[in-house]
Amino acid sequence: MISQDSINEVMSRADIVDVVGQFVRLKRRGTNFLANCPFHNEKTPSFNVSQAKGIYKCFGCGKAGNVVTFLQEHEKLTYPEAIHWLADYYKIKIDETERSPEQQQQQQLGESLRLLNEYATNWFHNCMINTEEGQLIGLSYFKQRGFRNEIIERFRLGYNPEQADVFYRDSIKKGYQADLLEKAGLIKNRNGIYHDAYRGRVIFPIQSMTGRILGFGARILKSTEKAPKYVNTPENEIYIKHKVLYGMYQSRQAIAKQDECFLVEGYTDVISLHQGGVENVVASSGTSLTEDQLRLIGQLTKNLTILYDGDAAGVKAALRGLDMALSQSFNVQLVLLTDGEDPDSFIQKHGSSRFHEYVKAHKQNVISFRLQVGLSEVGDDPVKKSKLVNEIAESISRINKAEDFALQAHFIREAARKLDVDEAGLITLVNKNIRERIEKDKDQVRISERQKSRDAGIAEIGPTHPDDSHPPELEARQVPGQPPGVQITPDEEQEWQLLRVLVEHGHEQYDDNQTVANHIEQTIDPDFLEDKTVGALYAEYFKHKARFGDVPETHYFINHPDSAVRNRMANLLHPRQEISSRWKEKYGIESLTGAMVYVNDVDSTLAYFQVKKLIHLKEDAMKKLSVEADPVTQKVYEEHIMNLIGMQRELMKQHATVVLKLSKRK
Ligand code: CTP
Ligand code: MN
Repeated sequence: MISQDSINEVMSRADIVDVVGQFVRLKRRGTNFLANCPFHNEKTPSFNVSQAKGIYKCFGCGKAGNVVTFLQEHEKLTYPEAIHWLADYYKIKIDETERSPEQQQQQQLGESLRLLNEYATNWFHNCMINTEEGQLIGLSYFKQRGFRNEIIERFRLGYNPEQADVFYRDSIKKGYQADLLEKAGLIKNRNGIYHDAYRGRVIFPIQSMTGRILGFGARILKSTEKAPKYVNTPENEIYIKHKVLYGMYQSRQAIAKQDECFLVEGYTDVISLHQGGVENVVASSGTSLTEDQLRLIGQLTKNLTILYDGDAAGVKAALRGLDMALSQSFNVQLVLLTDGEDPDSFIQKHGSSRFHEYVKAHKQNVISFRLQVGLSEVGDDPVKKSKLVNEIAESISRINKAEDFALQAHFIREAARKLDVDEAGLITLVNKNIRERIEKDKDQVRISERQKSRDAGIAEIGPTHPDDSHPPELEARQVPGQPPGVQITPDEEQEWQLLRVLVEHGHEQYDDNQTVANHIEQTIDPDFLEDKTVGALYAEYFKHKARFGDVPETHYFINHPDSAVRNRMANLLHPRQEISSRWKEKYGIESLTGAMVYVNDVDSTLAYFQVKKLIHLKEDAMKKLSVEADPVTQKVYEEHIMNLIGMQRELMKQHATVVLKLSKRK
């Protein structure tokens, strides 16, 4: 257990921009920061970070939270792990009570695997540096390949002895369980006898973006043996092959700084390039690039340069995943190495300036590359050629951003010439592809729009807008704390909105006589709150106010002990100024300034809330009326209903003026 004091200290020191910035390229937009969302694929950034509030929110996928939630989601950490991560990062010492053996057993398997991998990495490294066999066999292998000490340390390379079970026996002695060792892929069970999985091999630890050891690649030393060249960790709770890129930890800062990422095939390519001073490089480890890997890179840069062998296998590997990269708006360039070179041998032989020269001279964009590879295969075959023309048109159609217009035109000319087809015909083909994709996208938008208006109880009485969508302020408020597509009842939504207004504006002046908190306390009867959590938080809020004479601060809720509350609040309190500033562009409406903004926010939220409740009361009364036999009581109900309808109408009118105030300010 981490002490509450330590958690508080960590939370007060943590800067969300600083932390999120470790994983995502943030750009300042006004008071907030903006990035492409690391949790879903997108072309235009909708991931907002508010430094002042300490929270993030993605308007695309709805993910939101504070600095801890971010680490939990992004790095797949548990809550205590995230606190530890922050404590490490800010060099804060934390108090932690010993875990009981029971708690230790309950520790997540993932955490155990991480600890074990960290231990194993040190063990292998130590074995290579400090034992005779390690030095004679492992270290001398790396030396012979030209790796210097400093790079061996940076990549934490190691060695596993040849004797069957040295690592296994030592690990058991240190208290590690055989089944965990096996799960981590470090040992193998053959007929009930355990032996080291990597014996006689050099070890490449594979790290996450934050430096945690996820798994290993173990290379054989003698090329004569029939065994596979590399043995890799089997998939387990933390080693998920398609989400890993070798070198990400060591390269992430250089990738962001140089705004370019080199992609190579092998571990040794990454290491040699680093040693040669090219530090913005990762390896796909012999498989074709996956969407998850692209997303990882896309958080740091959109410029991807693929460096593969010029042989057939290398070309094939380079071609895979290209369309995916184009669709994710990557600017992809390809460089093929010839004469049997790979990046490792090239840079060791020629050095980094020749490397950069070569890359510059041989960089090819995807379309040119496709054309070159395709044309060499087509020959005189008209069917193959027609297929190639279609493929090229499809590829060109993906370069479809307005600013890329000239580039697209250039590709069309180049392709038409090289393919020896009519340029106008190729343009038609490209346009057809674009149209088809737009239609497909539109369908998806329509589906999600429909979903949105269904979720939003408030949209019905909102104003109409030129393009018939809801004003962004309302749009952004929908479905807080819920992933898109999850239905929540509109009532619950209104209640959370009420709470949000309290938390956000409670301390501000509503009018000359009272604060927003006072006004809400006067207006809303807490018995109307149906959502239990909202009810409890509402009570908590006013209890604090009664006791201390002051309302609780926003961060009290953002860092609330209950994680569900934390998430929901962060989601509700997402930065909305960004959106408001878009009103003018989009709707020609000036955004409100100063007190107008929050007073309007308070008024409309209260109105929505009350309208909802009135509708319920009315429905309730009508139900009772329908089963009431006594004419006198019937009359009472009827009057009551008329009353409620009157109130509702009045509120709607009031609310309409609120909205009007807004739209008149053109
Ligand atoms: N690979 C693998 N299993 C194999 C062969 C290759 O997992 N049996 C992966 C490794 O991640 C390797 C990458 O594919 O790094 C590229 O393979 P290769 O070029 O053969 O290996 P290098 O890392 O370049 O090793 P070396 O330079 O020692 O040949
Ligand atoms: Mn190699």
